[in-house]
Amino acid sequence: MCGIVALILKEGQASPILHEALKRLEYRGYDSAGIATLYDGKIFVKKDAGKIDEIHARLNFDSIPGKVGVSHTRWSTHGAPTKENAHPHLDCKGNVAVVHNGVIENFLELKDELIERGHRFISRTDTEVVPHLVEEGLDAGLSLYDATVNALRRLKGSYALAIISTKETDKVVCARNESPLVLGLSDYGTFCASDIPAILPYTNKVIVLNNGEVALLEADKVTVKRISDGVTVSRDAKVIEWSIEQAEKQGYPHFMLKEIHEQSTSLRNALRLQEQYLDLIATFLDRSEKIFLLAAGTSHYACIAASYMFSKLARLAACPVISSEFIENYGDSVGIDTVILAVSQSGETYDTLKAVDYARMKAATILGITNVVGSTLTRVSRAYIVQQSGPEIGVAATKSYTAQLLVLAQIALKLAKIRGKLSQDEIDELKASLNRIPDVVENILETCEEKVKEIAIKYSKEKLFLFLGRGISTATALEGRLKLLEISYTPSLAYPAGESKHGPISVVEDGVPTIFICPNDETRKEILGNIMEMKSRGAKIISMCEEGDQKIKNLSDDVVEIPKQIHPILSPIPYIVPLQLLAYYIAVEKGLDPDKPRNLAKSVTVP
Ligand code: M6R
Repeated sequence: MCGIVALILKEGQASPILHEALKRLEYRGYDSAGIATLYDGKIFVKKDAGKIDEIHARLNFDSIPGKVGVSHTRWSTHGAPTKENAHPHLDCKGNVAVVHNGVIENFLELKDELIERGHRFISRTDTEVVPHLVEEGLDAGLSLYDATVNALRRLKGSYALAIISTKETDKVVCARNESPLVLGLSDYGTFCASDIPAILPYTNKVIVLNNGEVALLEADKVTVKRISDGVTVSRDAKVIEWSIEQAEKQGYPHFMLKEIHEQSTSLRNALRLQEQYLDLIATFLDRSEKIFLLAAGTSHYACIAASYMFSKLARLAACPVISSEFIENYGDSVGIDTVILAVSQSGETYDTLKAVDYARMKAATILGITNVVGSTLTRVSRAYIVQQSGPEIGVAATKSYTAQLLVLAQIALKLAKIRGKLSQDEIDELKASLNRIPDVVENILETCEEKVKEIAIKYSKEKLFLFLGRGISTATALEGRLKLLEISYTPSLAYPAGESKHGPISVVEDGVPTIFICPNDETRKEILGNIMEMKSRGAKIISMCEEGDQKIKNLSDDVVEIPKQIHPILSPIPYIVPLQLLAYYIAVEKGLDPDKPRNLAKSVTVP
């Protein structure tokens, strides 16, 4: 997730406005930033690695002349956070400048093709193919608009793009596919931006661009067309009544709720990983003697789910270990034959990095999954994958968890293929199921939220909750419990349901809310038995079950139904969503701020 802003003014200087607007998008990414403007028939660029304020202190963004410009604040996906990889990116002649949010999936093919035709590339980004494609159109005599549309038709993947050129200094062309983009209209010029807060101080009249649309901005008007057939789209501007603070959360009361709702998008992004990195990670894992999945907190629960995925799909044993326990517990068994797959949203968690360092010293191979390019974990890993969830501001991990699960599931599938453990039909079925996940999560968010809210209100005053699941749903029970604990401070227990009769069942008495995670997998029969066990002792049963599962529904006091279309091994992704919402609404009902739970920090960088 990155932020882009572009602007074309009737009079005045664009750069101070672009600079201010970018700062309001810094929540979308902050590892590098840049501005390009048009002045006197030339493009002027200032960009660097670092946060906007740091770069401004060094380069003074506000001094770039010109009425027209594009700007970008970056959250790296392809290429480290360096000056070369910072946007805007230019073509060979410096006549085209492009800013981009999203992932161009076919950039490697396009890049090879363009290099063969003599283009020179400076960065390691996917974005840089765009200015070169536009350059070819301009060289062929096309207008900036037509050259851009030709380029867009070659792109696969997600993008919000804004493009300027010295060939037409009174225009900005922008386009959207699966990355957000809004247009702003005002008396003194027109804007486009990744999000409304960026432009709200200048205008509250906005047009939301839809997927597959391209817009031509001129100082006094905007024209929107469909990329596919060039048909003009007429859409009235909306007047936004939000304050800037409300707009930053896109109208949601908290970042946590916004991030829960962003999951269909972050999951789509997590499906856009480069195959060669997935292959590389899977190959290292396949060749190892011992595999440890190392992580803390929520990331540890993603690793627990992954250990089931690796075993069930690829017949490969991988041991999930809490980072802070790793050295004591397994340190002596680590050696050159060990692979550590470390999972950390921030890539900076002290306990995880300490364990990783220890394993490196003992010649283990370190692999990483993180959300932050350039984080320490990416620097110490032999190979790593960036999950592409965009910055997560709420302390409670939500969208980063489901994206970690999706990345790990893709690795499990690769492993299954390499190891020949699944038939082609099974692989195809799983792939189709993986691809359906973003839509299923979108559907859950649309259909279940009100029901979950009712349940939250009903049980918000309870003193104790139990979370139970079997098999891979144990991970969901643990993560559901952690969400509730950390933001609502409600004491809760989570166990594999089969373990409950070995101790935890003693806390059950009349009315104790007990949450069962019951997807329709091979554990369902036994979970029915566990539900009855708890019910007969007076527990209130709250079930997360498959749509239409009448047996579970009959035994439950409250039910959230999850759509059917997902393979059971992927169930931790859809089944955690109602539990995230449950924790959120219980915290809100208790008058707590879910974004800032007491005693907790987003990233725990101390021992
Ligand atoms: O950045 P990491 O994934 O390494 O963070 C690990 C934990 O600190 C983190 O998941 C923590 O448990 C979250 N607050 C959970 O919501």
